Amino acid sequence: MIILETKNLKKIYGSGETAVHALDGVNLSIENGEFISIVGTSGSGKSTLLHMLGGLDRPTSGDVIVDGKNIFSLKDEELTIFRRRKIGFVFQNYNLVPTLNVYENIVLPIGLDGNTPDKKYIDRIINILGLESKLKNMPNNLSGGQQQRVAIARALASKPAIILADEPTGNLDSKTSQDVLSLLKVTSEKFKQTIVMITHNEEIAQLADRIIHIEDGQIVGGSSNV
Ligand SMILES: Nc1ncnc2c1ncn2[C@@H]1O[C@H](COP(=O)(O)OP(=O)(O)OP(=O)(O)O)[C@@H](O)[C@H]1O
Ligand SMILES: [Mg+2]
Repeated sequence: MIILETKNLKKIYGSGETAVHALDGVNLSIENGEFISIVGTSGSGKSTLLHMLGGLDRPTSGDVIVDGKNIFSLKDEELTIFRRRKIGFVFQNYNLVPTLNVYENIVLPIGLDGNTPDKKYIDRIINILGLESKLKNMPNNLSGGQQQRVAIARALASKPAIILADEPTGNLDSKTSQDVLSLLKVTSEKFKQTIVMITHNEEIAQLADRIIHIEDGQIVGGSSNV
């Protein structure tokens, strides 16, 4: 079953002489439970694509279909709710809430949806990510790698059907990166989650079922590891 699909997706920033064609006709189909890596040079459109897949920004033209639903046909408010229920997002710049401590950041999306956290599961994530001693810290008292781990914990906390991660290991050492990847793989298999992960790291990209290469806003062929 296809869970994520784009149809001739285009995103143009600006207009006229200065227009940037960040996405230039992307057609993509992702099966439920697939683990996809997206690789490409800086500025090739990776983050733009991930933001569109997660309904964070509207395309100039084309569609994104999530679980059979054309998400940009939804009103902003419906889209926000849909995103919160379905998608866990790890942002390239973390996007932690500066006025909430680490634990509050991690459980924030669950609370917003009126649910109660699965304490045991969250404790396990916190443990694997090595955040036990930092739960009361504010984000601005954390290193980049620590903030990144909080962002990962937050994305996983609500067990979303889809995890969209923008360079989730960009600030982590290789041991922690491997731990994060195993965590993503184990949880995604257990909860039948779909993962789309941007990475610059070839070794990490190889751990996915399929690698998608993007260049100048276009997909330039893919390869399958399975
Ligand atoms: N808000 C914006 N306004 C104008 N141009 C933008 C905006 N966001 C991205 N761009 C441009 O769109 C293109 C694609 O950017 P994007 O952030 O998707 O690249 P990326 O592949 O994620 O790069 P990186 O690996 O450096 O994170 C770039 O040329 C960038 O300058
Ligand atoms: Mg980016």
